[in-house]
Amino acid sequence: MPVRTIIEPFRIKSVEPIRWTTREQREELLKAAHYNLFLLRADDVLIDLLTDSGTGAMSTHQWAAIMEGDESYAGSRSYDRFYNSVHDIVGYKHIIPTHQGRAAERILFGVTCKKGHVVPNNTHFDTTRANVEFVGAEAVDLLISEGRQPSSQYPFKGNMDVAALEALIERVGRERIPLVMLTVTNNSGGGQPVSMENVRQVSAICKRHGIPLYFDACRFAENAWFIKLREPGYVDKTPKEIAQEMFRHGDGCTMSAKKDGMANIGGFLCTSDDLLAQQEKDLLILTEGYPTYGGLAGRDLEAIAVGIQEALQEDYLRYRIASTAYLGNHIDEAGVPIVQPPGGHAIYIDARAFLPHVPSDQFPGVALAAELYLEGGVRSVEIGTLMFAGSAQMDLVRLAMPRRVYTQSHVDYLVEVIIEVFRNREKIKGMRLTYEAPFLRHFTARLTPVD
Ligand code: F0G
Repeated sequence: MPVRTIIEPFRIKSVEPIRWTTREQREELLKAAHYNLFLLRADDVLIDLLTDSGTGAMSTHQWAAIMEGDESYAGSRSYDRFYNSVHDIVGYKHIIPTHQGRAAERILFGVTCKKGHVVPNNTHFDTTRANVEFVGAEAVDLLISEGRQPSSQYPFKGNMDVAALEALIERVGRERIPLVMLTVTNNSGGGQPVSMENVRQVSAICKRHGIPLYFDACRFAENAWFIKLREPGYVDKTPKEIAQEMFRHGDGCTMSAKKDGMANIGGFLCTSDDLLAQQEKDLLILTEGYPTYGGLAGRDLEAIAVGIQEALQEDYLRYRIASTAYLGNHIDEAGVPIVQPPGGHAIYIDARAFLPHVPSDQFPGVALAAELYLEGGVRSVEIGTLMFAGSAQMDLVRLAMPRRVYTQSHVDYLVEVIIEVFRNREKIKGMRLTYEAPFLRHFTARLTPVD
């Protein structure tokens, strides 16, 4: 038999201890955190799958580059390296650094959108939706119907419904749509990819109506890998070639470098439009910083310059996607309902199917996430009714995998924890809110189990 195991494509040079707690301690800690895992101290978590954002391990090359950071206020050498590396992939003329993805969103929507505008997306991420709504515009999700069915095996469940896009443009009028956005991969819809064919179709519609197309590019490298694996005609192309082709179909992007930038902080906003870039840079100076650092240290720009290229390496992407699928496939075999097929950066448990006795308005995702913490010290995140209120189409619990951080035995432990919770699922109770903030309420919400 040839050797088939896909191993971590790195060895470990520096380790960070993790800390065990007892079940009794976790019961107290959870109560003190009002059953909201955001309110826990990270030290009280054993395996932290809250997010894949900024939680990755950097490579020796990134750490070496960090020492080369040029901290000059203006015109720093690190900005040139950052610009050249990002430009090599996205091809857009203006690359505006920001402290993270949502700062790029705030500037983009602040400059292009106002009350009465409508922004279509396959599915807006929470900060994207909040930034669109903050300027008074309407955020519309136009995901294909397969993307809303957790058990569907459709290979590109992140695709936008192009007929719905045409109908929306027809209904509200081109002048009310300042831009169309495609989120790759579709985080809120299960980490599912968007096909190149869909990108081409959406791009053609946008061009016909003179509407700019933007990518929310956070996980562009994982999306490129799925295209290589699943879309006819791409198997012989490199992930970088695929990513470059995708960006050529658009007019700009927002990016959180905390994901496929492989950095712990950072982001950027891109456009090739000189006038727009000028307005964006003016706003950047007001709140983020001078356009050659935009809220980042020179060393952060260096980490992104190296990391964003590493995210496109084939041995990395092969391991990345295989290790996420390993978790998904093992719990699926035990009967745990997950969003199929496994996503790129995360596995999403379908909490409505896992806890059919808990109605949506009792936050089944929050209840399940709390139980995973109690059972094994695992921190996950609800993406459902708490996060999106009335616009939630599913109640999911996301297990997001930090990049290059956990090994296969961590994942084997996780599988055991999840299966144990699944066995005892009938005892899990729903939750009710005791406090909520007006925006992005999931970060600070307080809950308590219903009797
Ligand atoms: N867009 C998408 C698709 C995201 O997943 C995120 C962040 C952002 C934009 C905002 O980027 O955090 O750098 O400001 N997602 C993280 C997550 C927080 O856990 O999925 P940011």
